[in-house]
Amino acid sequence: MQSESQVIVRPALDVRGSVSLPGDKSISHRYAMLAAIADGPSRLENYSTGADCASTLGCLRSLGVKWERRDGANNIIEVQGSGSTLTAPNRSLDCGNSGSTIRMLSGIVAGQKFTSEMAGDESLSRRPMERVITPLTVMGAEIKSQNGRPPLRISGCNLHGISYKMPLASAQVKTCLLFAGLLADGETRIAEPLRTRDHGEVALRAFGAQLERKGNEVCIRGGQRLRGIQARVPGDLSSAAFFLCAAALFPGSQLTIGNLLMNPTRAHLLDILMQMGLRISVTQLDEVHGELVGTLQVEGERLKGTAITGADTAALIDELPVLAAIAPYTEQGIEVRDAKELRVKESDRIASIVINLRAMGAEVEEREDGLRIPGGQTLRGAELNSFGDHRVAMAFSIAALRAQGETLIRDSQCAAISYPEFFSALEGLVER
Ligand code: S3P
Repeated sequence: MQSESQVIVRPALDVRGSVSLPGDKSISHRYAMLAAIADGPSRLENYSTGADCASTLGCLRSLGVKWERRDGANNIIEVQGSGSTLTAPNRSLDCGNSGSTIRMLSGIVAGQKFTSEMAGDESLSRRPMERVITPLTVMGAEIKSQNGRPPLRISGCNLHGISYKMPLASAQVKTCLLFAGLLADGETRIAEPLRTRDHGEVALRAFGAQLERKGNEVCIRGGQRLRGIQARVPGDLSSAAFFLCAAALFPGSQLTIGNLLMNPTRAHLLDILMQMGLRISVTQLDEVHGELVGTLQVEGERLKGTAITGADTAALIDELPVLAAIAPYTEQGIEVRDAKELRVKESDRIASIVINLRAMGAEVEEREDGLRIPGGQTLRGAELNSFGDHRVAMAFSIAALRAQGETLIRDSQCAAISYPEFFSALEGLVER
């Protein structure tokens, strides 16, 4: 997202209070897409307020789906399901900055009997799409791209089910193929190299589909009809990560987070932060449409270091920027390995983190697939760049809380991609 905005973050003494997060981005995208191809109406409460999920809604409108935003505080979206058949768009589908929109929705448009073009902003136009192009092509779609990057021109058809071994761990790709499989003839069987977040599977079941899972393999039968749901989207754990890490910086801090998504395929951050010393207790736990939702009580302690590798890296992929940003303040530091995917996110997140940490005076070792950040460091406030990446902007506003002096973050407005209310929520929790 391009803009001239900037934010100044001053050091804090403590983090204290309670917060409830806007709806989870991963679940909001999936619910909106499934509501669009379900029979009957859906009502989605606490829908993500981020620009990415608005991009999904915009694309759905271009595909003939009727939806409305209800006025009021609860971010309610009412979607009129179109059944499995959408309408040919008369212009390019604008996916904005959203990798989730282009990758997951491509599975649905590939199963329509028309051609769609999907495009996005400069950052999205650099992101790799072969990961969805290859399997969707095997299922029968015809897809043109710019050397594997957007814009994509997808000529949909009557897809046929496939058995596909995913070469990389990606929940976006798995979800894309499950959506395509739902619209295809026969069965689609997907094997993932590691278990990734299962919101696609959980959401499909919530809308009435049946799926089978055995280990790391999931199978869906095509032609099943979905029915609309009334749901409340749990609070976004990846947005809560910034406040959890802020609390982790201050021994004695006290934070309560309500209505928080706690799906075990997503909540590995809680394990890691607890291993590092943060005290977390779950004071309430419910299951809503197959997703675990809870209230957390958090208390800061001295933070130990950790190493994040392999399956842990994949499970923490969206939380790595903020973990890296607090790493210099931990006792032993943090090492991240097997994180090549970070280089093809909204920015090259390894490079963005390294540049910003060094600008704050930190010692950091950059590696092709990760970083090593020693602990026990003192950072100074600095002028930083968000690189147009929402998670980088938010991560460094957390690092700034323990720095000496003020930190200015350029192009901070991009936080709105996932969490427009972030800076005011943070100000409400910090004490100076
Ligand atoms: C997402 C999966 C992850 C994550 C992204 C959201 C999802 O991407 O980084 O923010 O909702 O499935 P990959 O599937 O590319 O790992």
